Amino acid sequence: RKVLVLNGPNLGRLGKRQPEIYGTTTHAELVELCVAWGSELGLDVEVRQTNHEGVMVDWLNAAADDATPVVLNAGAWTHYSLAVYDACAQLEAALVEVHLSDPKARPEVWRHTSYVEPHAALTVAGHGVDGYRRALEFVAAG
Ligand code: DQA
Repeated sequence: RKVLVLNGPNLGRLGKRQPEIYGTTTHAELVELCVAWGSELGLDVEVRQTNHEGVMVDWLNAAADDATPVVLNAGAWTHYSLAVYDACAQLEAALVEVHLSDPKARPEVWRHTSYVEPHAALTVAGHGVDGYRRALEFVAAG
């Protein structure tokens, strides 16, 4: 079963970006982990990252067309993108929201709102890269 793992802005710098918050695993390593976890779970996982909101909307629209399950870390778009909100609303298969940190426990009040959460079957936050494994387990079980 095909599953898309879609990562939004600034996540391409994982490992270098504020490692005290986001950890030391690089995006390339996250890709390898997700593919390996997926194959253990019988899932065909494809991981993508973009800093461009329109590209993310295109990917979400294609996932809606194909009824592909999506694991989404929308980064900062989570907190303000109505285009991402509308794209998530159209998804047919499971949507799992993932964050490495726990945005609701962070000091910036703007991180406490999620435009992905209303459409997500599950939100996993604050578990670092292991959150992606939990998200894939949820998709595999569904
Ligand atoms: C994040 C949390 C967001 O608040 C932040 O803007 C990110 C990463 C996370 O994975 O913890 O870019 O989605």
